[in-house]
Amino acid sequence: MSKAQKQWIDTAVAALDKAYVPYSKFPVGACLVTEDGKIYQGLNIENASYGLSNCAERTAIFKAVSEGERNFQHLVVAGHTPNPISPCGACRQVIAEFCSPDMVVTLIGDNGVEKEMTVAELLPYSFTDEDL
Ligand code: THU
Repeated sequence: MSKAQKQWIDTAVAALDKAYVPYSKFPVGACLVTEDGKIYQGLNIENASYGLSNCAERTAIFKAVSEGERNFQHLVVAGHTPNPISPCGACRQVIAEFCSPDMVVTLIGDNGVEKEMTVAELLPYSFTDEDL
């Protein structure tokens, strides 16, 4: 693993301690990496009106996109889960909007369990702008 890849994982794992999860107590962390190597950290942010909660992946993507970023090379998602965390369906759709189908996503759980998948593997037969 390169030094950069280790930093991406460390950034996603460090976000777990900053997640705002008073209701679910289920922290999720993310690290989105731009094509030129800039990193955007994401974490889940919940709300007393539960449905307004925002997932870690979407926090990272919205932070990056709102700063003008459009090209990404990697996403790491981390959770305190026995298996590598599984991104929710809504996040898969948002990931597919901004990341190319062959971009690799690293999913991390507790005890260093790790799984790598492409965006297309995470969301096969996705709805895209070509379907409009
Ligand atoms: N959550 C994420 O942040 N990302 C996912 O992909 C799965 C779910 C959050 C939403 C909520 O704050 C908590 O995990 C429990 O569902």
